[in-house]
Amino acid sequence: MEKIELLYEGKGKKLYTTNSENLLVSEFKDDLTAFNAEKTGTEFGKGALNCKISTEIFKLLEKNGIKTHFINMLDDSNMLVKKVDIINIEVVIRNIATGSLTKRLAIKDGTVLPFTLVEFYYKDDSLNDPIINDEHCILLDLVSNEGELEELKRLGREVNVILKPFFESKGLKLVDFKLEFGKDSEDNIILADEISPDSCRFWDTQTNEKLDKDRFRQNLGNVKVAYEEVLKRVLGE
Ligand code: TMP
Ligand code: ASP
Repeated sequence: MEKIELLYEGKGKKLYTTNSENLLVSEFKDDLTAFNAEKTGTEFGKGALNCKISTEIFKLLEKNGIKTHFINMLDDSNMLVKKVDIINIEVVIRNIATGSLTKRLAIKDGTVLPFTLVEFYYKDDSLNDPIINDEHCILLDLVSNEGELEELKRLGREVNVILKPFFESKGLKLVDFKLEFGKDSEDNIILADEISPDSCRFWDTQTNEKLDKDRFRQNLGNVKVAYEEVLKRVLGE
């Protein structure tokens, strides 16, 4: 499948049209960016690592009945996906408090949450992706009705029910993660974007060592080693 025209470029990926109307190529980029930070030029083959990790996770989710945009991997850093209209809501699922949750509400870092917390953020870089509630989502026309919001929450929780034990079996705590959904040509809400150490937090079960983008965000070093370790564990090597 050939890339024809660049349709969209985000922080982590470029999307290209193909000669098939309902299919796009998602190219995973190597750039590492931090929240609101400029590119660093730190490149270590992140695109290929994220593409492979995402591929494994999408396959696992599909096997468990979650509809995703994933079709297949074309090469190390290119994935063939279904074209969707992205819903501009970042659905964040949290099992353990860290990151912005601890800052916003002064919850102690590392607190195991008594239930799976689902949050919505407005996907808008110029506003720094602010947290929003259900009524903001309707107000901003991000979805057509409350039923769609309930569907996003339900799907987010279901993904967590599949992924949390999967990563646990690989010696990783799935601390939190961000999902993006879109509508396909038949108006079904399906999982899109990526699932990788850029969009999830993984802590080693034994040591609580961070094996995700926080290594970069917090200048912890060994980013490449961490991403490679996640891929290795996901593949069960
Ligand atoms: P946060 O603690 O910074 O709000 O992040 C929660 C989770 O969502 C974490 O796994 C990182 C992920 N995330 C993204 O992938 N992209 C984003 O723009 C944001 C804000 C969070
Ligand atoms: N939304 C992006 C992300 O986490 C911001 C960043 O590049 O860090 O991953």
